[in-house]
Amino acid sequence: MTSKSLHIAEHNQSEPLVIISGANCGLGLSLVRRFGRPRDQDNNALYRVLATARTEDAVSRLNDLMQNEGIAGEASLIELDRPEPGYISDWYEEVTVKHGEPTLLINNAGDPAPGSLEELTDEAIIGGTTTNFISPLLLIKHASRHLRRNNGGVLNISSLAASAPLPGMSPVYVGTKAAINMSTTPLAEQGYRVNSLVLGAVDTRMWHDNVPDSIKPAIQEQMRSGRPYLTEEVARAARLILESGITRKIIHMNDGLYDPAPDDPFQITYKEQDFSS
Ligand SMILES: NC(=O)c1ccc[n+]([C@@H]2O[C@H](COP(=O)([O-])OP(=O)(O)OC[C@H]3O[C@@H](n4cnc5c(N)ncnc54)[C@H](OP(=O)(O)O)[C@@H]3O)[C@@H](O)[C@H]2O)c1
Repeated sequence: MTSKSLHIAEHNQSEPLVIISGANCGLGLSLVRRFGRPRDQDNNALYRVLATARTEDAVSRLNDLMQNEGIAGEASLIELDRPEPGYISDWYEEVTVKHGEPTLLINNAGDPAPGSLEELTDEAIIGGTTTNFISPLLLIKHASRHLRRNNGGVLNISSLAASAPLPGMSPVYVGTKAAINMSTTPLAEQGYRVNSLVLGAVDTRMWHDNVPDSIKPAIQEQMRSGRPYLTEEVARAARLILESGITRKIIHMNDGLYDPAPDDPFQITYKEQDFSS
């Protein structure tokens, strides 16, 4: 028995399975820890995590990290920018044969697809759109029968860029984040339990590499805390939202950068007290 299969065998397959995409760094990695740690500081129940990354190296590092930290589950390779029909469904069938039916799906992976339309190659436009919108939708579609049977749900990680884009932002990023937000209502009407978590600034590679240094101070000044969110803060919110049973909401978490229209019943501002019992 390899060390990897030993690691899986140590955990009970009846623990609910959560699929987290883009799990090798940033917010995704904090989500893996928030859901997968044997016991967190709140002594919450254990999940098994199917953590995705897009290179063999990243998968191997993630598997080592999960094993070292006692996180139940496994990392799996998936390239979310691949638009060919059948790719996502084949992956989904393969991993669920091995790991069982998921209860939760977090579409976290995101491609900033930086550049103006003219600067972006055709491949970057198709790849960014597929990563941020088409693959998340396909994952929801193929997981839906299991999520329904397990009374589970979906959280799509979106961006404030969809409502209030910064100057110079990629049309692919802004457009795809708006698209995933706007899919919330029709998906909920079709029986999915689904919400979009719309983030302002979070302290990850995406914030550091894609927001110009010249405008970072102005953004931080508008935030109550004066700093980007820590990934652990967002991961905590994501778990509370997913465990709350709420659906059909576009949930803004931006620490004072933006308020949705108060008369829109489907858009709310995240407040921890609304989600913790
Ligand atoms: N940070 C912020 O300020 C902020 C604000 C609003 C929304 N968000 C959203 O938060 C989510 C998490 O991003 P982050 O802030 O944690 O940034 P990050 O550290 O850059 O993580 C992005 C993740 O997405 C993965 N990814 C990108 N393209 C992919 C592809 N084609 N196939 C598979 N995986 C792919 C990356 O994999 P690699 O490591 O291999 O590139 C990485 O795991 C994203 O949806 C992002 O849009 C972030």
